[in-house]
Amino acid sequence: MAALDVDFVRAQFPAFSSPVLSPHAFFENAGGSYPCRQVVERLSRFYTHRKVQPYGPYPGAQAAGAEMDEARDRLAAMMGVEPAQVSFGPSTSANTYVLAQAVRQWLKGRGGAIVVTDQDHEANSGVWRRLADEGVELREWRIDPATGTLDPQALSPLLEDGKVRLVCFPHCSNVVAEVNDVALISAMARGAGARALVDGVSYAPHGFPDFPALGCDAYLFSAYKTYGPHQGIMVLTPDFAMELPGQAHFFNHGVAWKRHTPAGPDHAQVAACAGMADYIDALAAHHGIGGDAAARSRGVHDLMRAQETATIAPLLDYLAARNDLRLIGPCDPLRRAPTVAVELAGPAEPVSEELGRRGIACWGGHFYAVRPLQALGIAPEKGVLRLSAVHYTTPDEVGRLIAALDSVL
Ligand SMILES: Cc1ncc(COP(=O)(O)O)c(C=O)c1O
Repeated sequence: MAALDVDFVRAQFPAFSSPVLSPHAFFENAGGSYPCRQVVERLSRFYTHRKVQPYGPYPGAQAAGAEMDEARDRLAAMMGVEPAQVSFGPSTSANTYVLAQAVRQWLKGRGGAIVVTDQDHEANSGVWRRLADEGVELREWRIDPATGTLDPQALSPLLEDGKVRLVCFPHCSNVVAEVNDVALISAMARGAGARALVDGVSYAPHGFPDFPALGCDAYLFSAYKTYGPHQGIMVLTPDFAMELPGQAHFFNHGVAWKRHTPAGPDHAQVAACAGMADYIDALAAHHGIGGDAAARSRGVHDLMRAQETATIAPLLDYLAARNDLRLIGPCDPLRRAPTVAVELAGPAEPVSEELGRRGIACWGGHFYAVRPLQALGIAPEKGVLRLSAVHYTTPDEVGRLIAALDSVL
């Protein structure tokens, strides 16, 4: 496999030539990635030439609707699903909120339990836990407090009595970053008669999901972390989408991709999501990756992962060798996303501020992963320093980061 051409990659991101953004080395990607130029151009074109009610019987409206459909069609093809399985919402938090309303009605009168983890971002935790107020039984699948690992063996006893209807878990956590075996966990859930719902927000920036291979019932991620606009994207199996009570206007309940979208969609941003598919296709073409959209997406995923794992290995080695901090999650880059959180002796935020003064963009805090930090024995007020890379991060930037850490810590 050819290596990722990082110069080509960076030429696709206007941020790298912005006088405001380009001077620092960017390690806040887990907060939100830079958008690729294909997305920026589509957004600008939409606002300039298409900003009318889409699908109406006149040219601008037809073009607007066609671009929104194109986004759904092309993202679906990349993820190996039908377009009707893909819906957009304002954010992943908003999407889980809506799904939780649907699940509340779905479980009403039937009983059943939901499994949640203490590894999840609050977006895939609180909405489910609150259903306990309505009589739904909640079971917590807990991490190992020393390592942060979510062990599938610890899930088995929770599923044993066959009462669980839904298992909610992350593809990887935004602080632990260890990649969970979604296919295995989904198979365990389904084998026990439960649906599997995956928060893919922290993993999707490192490659779009191959939904059929993951075998889950719902996969959610946020386009503003996958080089796109501020949208939440939700992929559902057709039967789960239709089984869950609709949350949209009643006359939209028959259409799977509208059924769980209560608000009117953000037309421009939905349309601009097609730019993410343009970007993946540009990478595939540049690196000679062929096949259908799903194959191209898988090929680009592998290229990105190879680049990222090699780039962050020195950072992980450097952090693991220091005895004045605690590296959260595995040291092996192959077992994790390149989102690297560390517990320091004191609060993390002042250290991130000092790094900021030295040309390193990162942050310290709890990153809405309050429960995971508590489970790891870290006070949320103290927080962790989070250094997050993606495929456009260069070895030179990692070198600058290590040098800055060396002088600040
Ligand atoms: C792992 C994870 N899940 C969910 C979310 C929430 O996503 P959104 O901001 O789209 O609501 C985030 C946001 O940082 C996240 O990191």
